[in-house]
Amino acid sequence: MSEATTESGLPIKARYGPEDLDGFDPAVQLGEPGAYPFTRGVYPSMYTGRPWTMRQYAGFGTAAESNARYKELVANGTGGLSVAFDLPTQMGYDSDHPLASGEVGKVGVAIDSVEDMQVLFDGLPLDEVSTSMTINAPAASLLLMYQLVAEGNGIPAAQLTGTIQNDVLKEYIARGTYIYPPAESLRLISNIFAYCHREIPRWNTISISGYHMAEAGATPVQEVAFTLANAKAYVQAALDAGLAVDDFAPRLSFFFVARTTLLEEVAKFRAARRIWARMMKEEFGAQNPKSMMLRFHTQTAGVQLTAQQPEINLVRVALQGLGAVLGGTQSLHTNSFDEAIALPTAKAARLALRTQQVLAHETDVTRTVDPFAGSYVVESLTDDLEEAVLALMQAVDDRGGAVHAIEQGFQKSEIERSAYDNALQIDSGERVVVGQNRFTVEEHERYEPLRVDPAIEAAQAQRLERLRADRDGSAVERALADLRTAAEGTDNVLPPMRAALAARATGGEVADALRDVWGQHVPRETF
Ligand code: 3HC
Repeated sequence: MSEATTESGLPIKARYGPEDLDGFDPAVQLGEPGAYPFTRGVYPSMYTGRPWTMRQYAGFGTAAESNARYKELVANGTGGLSVAFDLPTQMGYDSDHPLASGEVGKVGVAIDSVEDMQVLFDGLPLDEVSTSMTINAPAASLLLMYQLVAEGNGIPAAQLTGTIQNDVLKEYIARGTYIYPPAESLRLISNIFAYCHREIPRWNTISISGYHMAEAGATPVQEVAFTLANAKAYVQAALDAGLAVDDFAPRLSFFFVARTTLLEEVAKFRAARRIWARMMKEEFGAQNPKSMMLRFHTQTAGVQLTAQQPEINLVRVALQGLGAVLGGTQSLHTNSFDEAIALPTAKAARLALRTQQVLAHETDVTRTVDPFAGSYVVESLTDDLEEAVLALMQAVDDRGGAVHAIEQGFQKSEIERSAYDNALQIDSGERVVVGQNRFTVEEHERYEPLRVDPAIEAAQAQRLERLRADRDGSAVERALADLRTAAEGTDNVLPPMRAALAARATGGEVADALRDVWGQHVPRETF
């Protein structure tokens, strides 16, 4: 029988024993929970002090519809908000842009202006909840709209907590919601780091993501290696922009997937924390322990859900969520069992949250920190994964770092190869997907998915028409001209961007002002 391997292609033995931990020094490899190199977790007490944040990603249709879903989630016990934006918003187009047709409010909520943002968060306690926004290329605009809404409700920016994803490098590799060329994107991201350090100090300025690369087929080693290589590029760009590492690094955050193969996933999270801590201390000279803490959000693996017998997904998500918690996540989204079919229904979304509540309140995994510490297999896998991740990060460095490797198509082609191998394994039956290629059933019960009302597109267009009619058009033009001037120079573009949005410029108009100066990224086809 061929030797068993992990999802990363590393050997996994049928039996581990004391000999596998020969020379293993817990003081060096682990440290204490909440202490360098943070292998055992970023806080001393972890969940014994406070459970992870149950942060369910949601958003669809109009701001009013999403606002209702957020209120429902908060009423059901979710601890943090997580906003999904529709594609036009993510691509910096207003809802009435020709390219927005058919996509308005579809995979997330349509937000065109400060007015929409006000509706989205109406009646929600922004001084109490932390809000994550999955927005990348136009992240600055959406963050500033959020700040304007909070300030409009009497909440000072210094009090705001939350996260913008703001990780454009992974968009060039997977997912594709980029706008500007890499250099301008890195400048904008460094501007956000500087602005938040000054104005919104508790805000997590970026969520450096491996999730989407994993969903595109990346193995655990590729997921961590390419994410940390991107993180290294962001740190270097901020240093090159003159920022001090301890001024911005404490507010960097991460986002990973949790697969059903939970032993490797636990080891993956522990290895990632140790690599990041050592890199920040030894390579970038960080002094503040918070600069070395890899704090991360996890989402259970959407790509492992099946449309066949969708109720099986409840089991998968529970196991994936368990892996994320055993691995020490700070924040967790558990997928709804119907997501392989359509946007989740309210009942499916509630079940997904209840899964987390069972993990937090009915199991004993919150009663002790890093329960796998000292495990022959998990410590061995942690070491093996660390070694493989560092080797792949070196391969990225050998190509000139993350940005140059992206321009060469290196990460994309590596992930595509893994995705292809995975597909072959499923097709051959070598990789079992219960309900899909084994243990199948003939009849498929009728499932009524959630549907987004197409009338939302016209409604959003009318809102934009009213906004443009009511605002002071010349003030908007002046503000947009100031933004273009800043973009042409070296000043931080966020202050003029905030002024433009406050004057009721739309997200699309702000994105266009930067397109006028920076152009748009056009990927070079790589073969
Ligand atoms: N001991 C001491 N303090 C503790 C503690 C403990 N055990 N647990 C928590 N705390 C403190 C923390 O220090 C923090 O205080 P601070 O802000 O003053 O430092 C506070 O309590 C909140 O704790 P966390 O910061 O750990 O938890 P959050 O939930 O607030 O933040 C995060 C987690 C990962 C740092 C943050 O970046 C976050 O929330 N990320 C979420 C990202 C997200 O939701 N993304 C969705 C993506 S969906 C997508 O991409 C699209 C789809 O296609 C997948």
